[in-house]
Amino acid sequence: MKPVRVLTGITTSGTPHLGNYVGAIRPTVRASRLAGVESFYFLADYHALIKTGGDPARVQRSTLEIAATWLACGLDPEKVTFYRQSDIPEIPELTWMLTCVTGKGLLNRAHAYKASVDKNTEAGTEPDDGVSAGLFMYPVLMAADILMFNAHQVPVGRDQIQHIEMARDMASSFNHLYGEHFTLPEAVIEEHVATLPGLDGRKMSKSYDNTIPLFAPREQLKKLIMGIVTDSRAPGEPKATESSALFQLYQAFASAEETADMARAYADGIAWGEAKQRVFERLDQEIAPMRAVYDRLVQDPSRIEQTLIMGAAKARAIATPFTQRLRHAVGLRALDALPEAPGSGAKAAKAALPAFKQYREKDGLFYFKLTDAKGLVLLQSRGFAAPREAAQAMARLQQEGSIALDAMAQHLIAPEDVQRVTLALTALRESAS
Ligand code: TRP
Repeated sequence: MKPVRVLTGITTSGTPHLGNYVGAIRPTVRASRLAGVESFYFLADYHALIKTGGDPARVQRSTLEIAATWLACGLDPEKVTFYRQSDIPEIPELTWMLTCVTGKGLLNRAHAYKASVDKNTEAGTEPDDGVSAGLFMYPVLMAADILMFNAHQVPVGRDQIQHIEMARDMASSFNHLYGEHFTLPEAVIEEHVATLPGLDGRKMSKSYDNTIPLFAPREQLKKLIMGIVTDSRAPGEPKATESSALFQLYQAFASAEETADMARAYADGIAWGEAKQRVFERLDQEIAPMRAVYDRLVQDPSRIEQTLIMGAAKARAIATPFTQRLRHAVGLRALDALPEAPGSGAKAAKAALPAFKQYREKDGLFYFKLTDAKGLVLLQSRGFAAPREAAQAMARLQQEGSIALDAMAQHLIAPEDVQRVTLALTALRESAS
């Protein structure tokens, strides 16, 4: 079975807060440990330029903090692909290709852009006053992030659902024009903790300035939780759980049983101060061990830098050949490359792919080979006694890609150019996903 590809990014414009942790980091790190999933996590630093124009130090600091956060929260960079968006120049290239298949009207409807326009209209200023083209194009850049890796699932907060839908629209338009290149992604929302309330009871968000930093020192965490708004019910008076930000925060960290206990305490009239103390203890129990790792990591930026460079190499092993294929599909191609009949985009893209072929030789044995788009042999097997054996070996390479090369060495003639074989295998797996 083909693994499910899960991808998500965090904009590197601030310090990670509990809402990011509960809504994005924790569920995706958990999912990355499941069998049958292939995960991509990245630091959306190109996105950061939209909001932090003119504050380069902040972008750098935030990138460090967010990278350290993912790692401290248990992300294994060996198992997943963990990278920085701006290390992948193919992303802005794809952004442009998608820009050209995206209706301007679609972008006019994006929530973030519309909110700015509405604000201006209310204030009686020009609709686009203070709106950068970057903000307007934000959903296209995000679509490029997702479509570049043909992610099936994108875990995000509710506020991002529209962006995933737009990415689907762009993928469909592109596929319609140029052939089936992109997988249509789906948003994944963790249902019972869709959004976390902030200090003031509204959704926890940088833009409301009501966040609790995930790795605030213990004492500060306590102080912030003590400051969460509550109603004025006195100790002994029963308290409502539905409208309580404190309760929702607790629920996002506690087990079902603990949550039921807390609900009972609310009904029994627990004092707000005591409830806050309990919430603090429960949160800190989960956070403290990660905080210790985090503090060590931020002290050592060059180690994180190395990790990111390794991640970028992994990501580009996919992005580079895929972008090659997309360039070809849209017509950005060598002048002596074979043109294709109009409308045969999908077929032509297939034809431009490397291919496996199985055959029988005069020696009576069964073989397979991998050829590039022009028929040049990249990889050649040794002889197998039975056709089934050849077919199985071939299928393994198709499914597992270049990781299988070493284990299968005895069945293969050592390739001249391992890197080309690797790229070809990756391109094939990409096209099949
Ligand atoms: N826009 C997302 C946010 O602010 C971050 C992001 C950028 C992202 N690119 C993405 C999330 C791709 C998921 C997939 O939360």
